[in-house]
Amino acid sequence: MEIKVAEHCGFCYGVKRAVALAEKAATDHVQGATLGPLIHNPQLIAELASEGIACKDSLEQFAPGETVIFRSHGEGPETYAQAEKQGLTILDATCPNVRLAQQKAAQAAADGYFPVIVGEKNHPEVKSILKWAGKNAICVECIKDISYVPRQERYGVIIQTTFELQKFNDILQALQEQRPGEYRVERTICLATAQRQQAAVKLAAESDAVIVIGGRNSANTRHLFELVQQHCRQAYHIETASELSSDMLRGCNKIGITAGASTPDRLIKEAILVMENMDFESMLNESMEVEVYP
Ligand code: F3S
Repeated sequence: MEIKVAEHCGFCYGVKRAVALAEKAATDHVQGATLGPLIHNPQLIAELASEGIACKDSLEQFAPGETVIFRSHGEGPETYAQAEKQGLTILDATCPNVRLAQQKAAQAAADGYFPVIVGEKNHPEVKSILKWAGKNAICVECIKDISYVPRQERYGVIIQTTFELQKFNDILQALQEQRPGEYRVERTICLATAQRQQAAVKLAAESDAVIVIGGRNSANTRHLFELVQQHCRQAYHIETASELSSDMLRGCNKIGITAGASTPDRLIKEAILVMENMDFESMLNESMEVEVYP
């Protein structure tokens, strides 16, 4: 039995930065909270709350003088203005890649391009990019949505940083066919996302079963799971090691592990540990070998 961890998986640098910022606020006993969950991982959000950094749903819940931590998915311009008006201190954990996508969207609108944001409508990052892109901007999540895009001479296309590359390419091709015009395409899928997707596909192709670890509310984890399912018949999405069972891996020689960009290393290590201690003897008469890439 061999367990192999994907070459790229787990915390990306944007998430590391956001978590470090929130943990420092906890250590410094800052009086404050995050506006919405800092990242899409329920276990880490619970840990932060136990350290004194809770999660609030709206700015109205903050008292003047408190600190508000903006999450890695970013906020719209009016949220910054509102926080300042309320006398709050802002700790901005917006991922620099999300900030870039926001700036590209605002620039496209300012330069006279009709902003089209390709991404998941209900994802907080997409909502924040739309706000920077102005009131005319539209979100396209799938090819069907193209019918809502008004006919314009010039389009500025921006991508959700964690969107699936192949899906984006299909949407872009259909968009250009159905809405001909001049296109400025900003390829804002972040490197960490692309690396995790490529590594997951490679791992899935060489594994009998793949475990994808991450929050069920994490878009990038869900995309990894969808990709893995396309290349491996036995794929499982779990949040924590407690969901693992030896039945899931019965008859498998090669097990792959990958994890979303918002999955703490601790959860990956726990999953490996649980698998190492499973009663594999009753399943297979082979020794287990664990290979973990840095
Ligand atoms: Fe940023 Fe990419 Fe991570 S956008 S939060 S580095 S997945």
